[in-house]
Parts: sequence; C-alpha cells; structure tokens
Amino acid sequence: MELTRLRGFQDLIGPSAETFTFIEDCARRCVERHCFREIRIPLVERIELYDRSTGETSDIVQKQMYKIERPPESDATGAMVLRPEGTPGVVRAYIEAGLDRREPEQRFFYSGPMLRYERPQKGRYRQFHQFGVEVFGRSDALCDAELLVMIEEFRRELGIRLTFQINSIGDALCRPGFREAVLNFGLKHRDELCEDCKQRLTRNPLRLLDCKIDAALVESAPRSIDYLCPGCRAHFDKVKDLLGAAGVEFVENPRLVRGLDYYTRTTFEVISADVGAQSTVIAGGRYDGLIEALGGAPVPGIGFAMGVERLALALETAGRAPKFEVDAAIISIGDAAARKAITVARAMRERGLRVEMLSPERRPKALLGRAAKIGARFAVIIGENEIQKGVVVLRDLRASSQAELPEAQVAETVLAARAG
Ligand code: HAM
Repeated sequence: MELTRLRGFQDLIGPSAETFTFIEDCARRCVERHCFREIRIPLVERIELYDRSTGETSDIVQKQMYKIERPPESDATGAMVLRPEGTPGVVRAYIEAGLDRREPEQRFFYSGPMLRYERPQKGRYRQFHQFGVEVFGRSDALCDAELLVMIEEFRRELGIRLTFQINSIGDALCRPGFREAVLNFGLKHRDELCEDCKQRLTRNPLRLLDCKIDAALVESAPRSIDYLCPGCRAHFDKVKDLLGAAGVEFVENPRLVRGLDYYTRTTFEVISADVGAQSTVIAGGRYDGLIEALGGAPVPGIGFAMGVERLALALETAGRAPKFEVDAAIISIGDAAARKAITVARAMRERGLRVEMLSPERRPKALLGRAAKIGARFAVIIGENEIQKGVVVLRDLRASSQAELPEAQVAETVLAARAG
C-alpha cells in the first residue's frame, strides 16, 4: 500500500492554500460588513440530523454520507457522520443554545471542510470547503435580496464574473400542488426518463427538474412559479424588485429546485463559466420550516454556502489568484554580518515587509540565485566591507541596480518601491 492521499481529497500547498485563504479572508470581510457573527460547529453529528433536514430522499443522505465506525454514543439511536454541509449543524447549535426562543434573530457565518462521498472530478471533491452564512428570524424579502447583494459585493471584490440565477419553489401551502404536477408529468413521460430519475420519481419528483440527462424533456415540465400561492408570489416579486433597485443582475431559472429538502420560497445559485461542469460556485435559499422541523421554535431562515475550491478555480482561470510577493532576501557573509542581518530583517518585518533571511552557508552567487527564485524584489547584502563602512547594499533585483545606504533607510526605501 502506498501512502498517498485518498481519491477526492486534496493537499493544498503554497499558492493553492493561499488562494483559499484569500477567498476566505475576502468573504469574512464582506460578511462582517453585513454584521454576521462567527459560529464554529463540530465536524461530527448524529445521522438523524441530516435525515430530518437535508432529507432522506436527497442524494447526500441516500448515498454520500461518511459514517464513523465507532459504537454510537449511548444516547444516540443511529450512526455518527462527518458533516456533508453546514446548515443542519448551525440550526442544531442555534436551537440547542436556546436562541430560537430567547433571541431568534441571528446572522451567522461559518467556514470549514465538508465531506460527501461523491464521484470526484474537476470542481467536485469528497472533502471540500464551504464558507456559509445563515440568517434566522427574518422572513422578509429584503433579507433575501440583501444576501444576494452581499454576494455581489464579494464577487466584485474578487474581480471575477458570475451569473446569478434565482427561483421560488413555494411554501408548505403551494409546493404540494407543484410537486404533484411534476410527479404527474414524470409518470406520463416515465419511459423517457433516465434511470436515476425513474428511481427519484416517487421519492423526490422535483429532482427531475435539475437532471442534466433529461434536460430536453424538462423544458416542457411544470414550472414552480406557475404554482405559487399569492403570498409566495408577492415575496418573489419583492425580491426581484429589490435586486433591481440594488443593481444586481440576475436571471430567473424556473428549473432551479436544489437537491436538499429543506428549501422554501427563494432559491438561488451563482454560476461561473470558468470552472467546467461543476459550475455552481455558490448556492442557497430560504428554509422557513427547517428550524421547527428540527425541534425549534417556528422561526424562518435563509442562507447560502460557497464552494471555496470552485471559487479558487474561477479565480485562477481569471488570473485573479493572489501572488505571494517577497519584498527582500537578506544575504549576510560572515558572523558579524549575520548579527547585523538579524537586526535589519527585524526592522523591516516590523514595517510589515516580507523578508527571508538566506543561509550564510551558501556561496554568494548561489544566494543571489535563491533570492531570484523566491521572487524577492530586493536583496539586502551585508559583508565585511559593508560592516566596516556602516552601510548595507540594497540590490533591486528587477532593475539589476544597487546602492549603498545606511541600515536605517532600508525599510523605508523598500516600502517606497513597493508603493510606487
Ligand atoms: P449545496 O448546494 O449542497 O448547498 O453546496 C453549496 C456549494 O458547496 C456548492 O454550490 C458548491 O460550490 C460547493 N460544493 C458542494 N459539493 C461539493 C463538492 N463535492 N466538491 C466541491 N464543492 C462542492 C449546501 O450545502 C447548503 N447548506 C447551502 C445553504 C446554506 N443553503 C442555505 N444555507
């Protein structure tokens, strides 16, 4: 057996890890501007949590859960699983802390790995990372619109192109009628359906609508917006009106039903044209019945999660991935120079510069090679000669020019070059 990583799992080394952090930092800044507070939840939960939220008929619960091979806790009736998504855990934590009754209006964000046993391909992994948000206690359309406005702000900050798709799938009042219409449509066309959809038809007929294989047939399937009750219709119209007022461009996609069971009313997906077949980079929607279904108070909810791997792909394709820039490499020759080098490096780092001290055991020529290899903008060179003269040599590796200057001026000079 080779000790390689498992299929569908990724190592993120250097630049790819930095792109992740860049996305997460950007998302955090964005949600904090919208007053979201952080929540951290466990990686492991009881399987019943997902049965009762994500849904027993969803692909996630049906075939993608990672079960833990340990005897369950004495108070658990079923298995323990690794979280496949964040929403159920956040809702559970919110109810468990009593917030649903005490202070129902909350806005949370979270980030971290999720696990689903899926068929790996570009943009689809078994361990992937989500940055998600959940808002509890708000049923108004302004809240729905504001989440999309927030995504638009985030998109702009990343500098990538994304398309917003929205839909409304109705609520407990009008969804049953729509579900039945889709079921009847499916039964009528049963012979034309793919094997998966034939299976899904009785369990979860709405999934037929986002089947890629049956896409042509689905063109003529019933559309949720034609079945909305007046309340859902008015809500959806308001969301669209507010998005228009905020200047967020979107398209309506009547096929957008989402694969998880808890959604009501507004659903949305944000698509990138730059990442291949797994093009949904952000997805979410309203789930007004979920908190109650999990044993909490009747509090409405809405949220979304972004796939960090997919956003990283979009960023890389658009040439917007961050570059790690090293400001200076410090080269010292001799013991006295090494002592000076330590203080010079420290002064530079105190000014926020990125500085790598190179090994004094290498030859001067190899050291300049190393400085170029790490992409340093400058080399600071200190040898016997410089010690005697009380200066250092600052070599601009881009311009291939150099100057002698007092140690105290090095940080300032490098900072000025970086700004210019
Ligand atoms: P989801 O559509 O299952 O929704 O996942 C959200 C996002 O996570 C996807 O759009 C995608 O970017 C990413 N993602 C999902 N599966 C994978 C995978 N196997 N590999 C890479 N990326 C993946 C949810 O999880 C809901 N909890 C979202 C939500 C929050 N709805 C309301 N609140």
